[in-house]
Amino acid sequence: MTVESNDTILDYPFSNPSALEAAPEWERLRTECPVARIRLPSGDEAVLLTRHEDVRAVLSDRRFQRQLGTSDAARISNEDEGGFLGGEVSIASGEGHERWRKLVGRYFTARRMIDMRPQIKATAEGFLDGMIKKGSPADLSAEFGFPLPVWVIGMLLGIPEADRNIFRRWSEIMLNVSRFSQDEIDSSQAEFMEYFTNHVAALRENPGDDLISSLLDVADSAEDDRISAFELVLTAQGLLIAGHETTSHMIGKMVAMLLADRARWERLLADRSLVRYAVEEALRFDVNPGIGIPRYITTDLELSGGTLPAGTSVICSMGAANRDGTVFADADAMNLNRAPNPHVSFGGGQYSCIGASLARAELQIALELLLDRLPTLELAIPVEQLRAREGLLLGGLEEVPVRW
Ligand code: HEM
Repeated sequence: MTVESNDTILDYPFSNPSALEAAPEWERLRTECPVARIRLPSGDEAVLLTRHEDVRAVLSDRRFQRQLGTSDAARISNEDEGGFLGGEVSIASGEGHERWRKLVGRYFTARRMIDMRPQIKATAEGFLDGMIKKGSPADLSAEFGFPLPVWVIGMLLGIPEADRNIFRRWSEIMLNVSRFSQDEIDSSQAEFMEYFTNHVAALRENPGDDLISSLLDVADSAEDDRISAFELVLTAQGLLIAGHETTSHMIGKMVAMLLADRARWERLLADRSLVRYAVEEALRFDVNPGIGIPRYITTDLELSGGTLPAGTSVICSMGAANRDGTVFADADAMNLNRAPNPHVSFGGGQYSCIGASLARAELQIALELLLDRLPTLELAIPVEQLRAREGLLLGGLEEVPVRW
């Protein structure tokens, strides 16, 4: 099985039949053409991998870098949507990234994630109270899914509560460059830089229990392990971009998927021990996880689906890999007690999601709270009317109208 014949270059991304239904191409390519030629929105060509085994093989191979913006690699779009994740900054790849990852990884311990739970819960309760007070029906996404993760990142970075709403706006602009003017993007970058430089100086004077204070500690104590002030700002920006909309959209998509079939909601109401499995299954079952994970292949590579020559730009489809029937029994069914569940929604290998345990905590807390407080929750519109919000890096739902 090799790359589709020369004249078949598929336009990518594919469109889904509806907001909660997978693109039919996933299944077809996985079985017939697991190493498929595609044309990206930039017009550049790349190869799409759809099998779980192949996606895992590429992601776990340390030789392959994430940037598609360097050398002769394909670009996803003509606008720079890569930001921190795709940028050509010192901490984005190679040794600089390895050092950064070690430093930042020290903060994301299991213990700390457990310690953050009560604060995350209290914040989530605050937003839910606000939504309930405004009354049924409501847009769960706008009232609950969107604000929660940005507040959690604010917590992580030691941002005072009063300033967290500005963060929301910056995150929106920085992640969706194609929807804003160059002036808006430039000024939001400049404002972020200025705010953060002052914030770092304030934390130096008055350190807290946040990630930035812990990095400052390292920076000040070990000469050879320094993280520069600029890298600190990039870290903050990177966390905001990587951790906000991803989690926000996932809260909305998870709730929509669970309410799309009320039997799922009822099962969770009857048995809360299913919540953490349901969260993993929602991550796996997501049909709109964005374009996929890009890698640049620097040496010939044998995969189950064919050979990739050096110099290939690859997109690993998490969505297609997550529905691979050779790994997941009855892959097209949402199974709320699926275990094990080796989905690739958080990537894998050296660049895998550093915030995965935090995202899991947020999703679990959000779901538990909704089950406790709003057991009668249901979608306020027919499932077919849910509208997908397509984004290149990640996708979600425009709104999640609910009533209770
Ligand atoms: C449901 C929510 C989330 C999803 C689906 C998700 C998904 C991902 C994926 C697929 C990657 C790998 C990208 C690649 O290999 O090129 C990644 C990386 C990353 N994620 Fe997440 N993420 C989520 C939440 C978060 C949160 C809450 C944070 C932090 C607060 C975060 C921070 C990061 C960072 C910093 C990276 C880059 C890691 C590195 O370069 O080593 N993510 N995420």
